[in-house]
Amino acid sequence: MTTTIAITSGKGGVGKTTIAVNLALSLALQKKETLLLDADLGMANAHILLGINPKFSLDDFVTGNMPLNKVITTLDNNLKFVSGGNAINRLLNLSDLERHKIIKSFNDLNNKPEFMLIDVGAGAETSSMTFMASADKVIVVITGEPTSFIDAYTLIKTAFLDYKMINFGIVINMASSPIHAKLNFDKFQSIAQKFLDVNLKFIGHIPNSQKVKNSIISRTALVSSKNNSPESKSFNEISSKLSLVEKNNIGTIKFFDI
Ligand SMILES: Nc1ncnc2c1ncn2[C@@H]1O[C@H](COP(=O)(O)OP(=O)(O)OP(=O)(O)O)[C@@H](O)[C@H]1O
Ligand SMILES: [Mg+2]
Repeated sequence: MTTTIAITSGKGGVGKTTIAVNLALSLALQKKETLLLDADLGMANAHILLGINPKFSLDDFVTGNMPLNKVITTLDNNLKFVSGGNAINRLLNLSDLERHKIIKSFNDLNNKPEFMLIDVGAGAETSSMTFMASADKVIVVITGEPTSFIDAYTLIKTAFLDYKMINFGIVINMASSPIHAKLNFDKFQSIAQKFLDVNLKFIGHIPNSQKVKNSIISRTALVSSKNNSPESKSFNEISSKLSLVEKNNIGTIKFFDI
């Protein structure tokens, strides 16, 4: 059975793609078959971080040019990737029907992965919310900035009120220290739980680091079998805590519905 995990945020630019790509690499290194879906439609850039330029993307599938299995790029034995494409206007304006077509289609794959990570666009727009609601688990990335807090709160409030989602994993990115990361989580949790009956789980932090920045500039993801840096370890630690995030059973259509 596949566990699908949406990586989301309220505010843009907080590190969703960085985290989705490196978590996918971390799971694959642990020999867990993983599929990374870049669903930040119109703004897709996970392929840049992976240092690849896939021939086909989700756009080819949506327009009917290609079956889903043909838009999947195999990166190694355990890691597959679907690019969100760069046909900006087309994919940004997906209809409900097209979104449902994407979500439903994964069930037809012959080889279902153990994990599917979905890099979802920032904010509480319908497209992001639909992909979020269709995943088993949701991870919200926040930084210590007040704007990130406020936007993440708005995202969780919308998910809770409009989609009845209650369980969220929280990752603190660009943390100045592990202690600060935990303090930031505690602060965010006390705000969110004061007003909403939600269940937030702190599953780790990524340090604010030049190495993370450089990995994007050089188009080489950080996590690899040879890299034992603190940054790489923090991604591995988060991947080992994914099981702590509880599923949302909200009765909407799901990826890999059986
Ligand atoms: N832990 C980190 N330390 C330092 N810089 C970071 C870290 N994580 C991300 N960044 C920086 O933040 C920028 C945005 O990261 P990323 O593209 O992963 O965010 P995003 O949430 O996916 O953005 P978008 O909302 O545009 O999709 C990157 O270019 C990178 O330089
Ligand atoms: Mg992104």
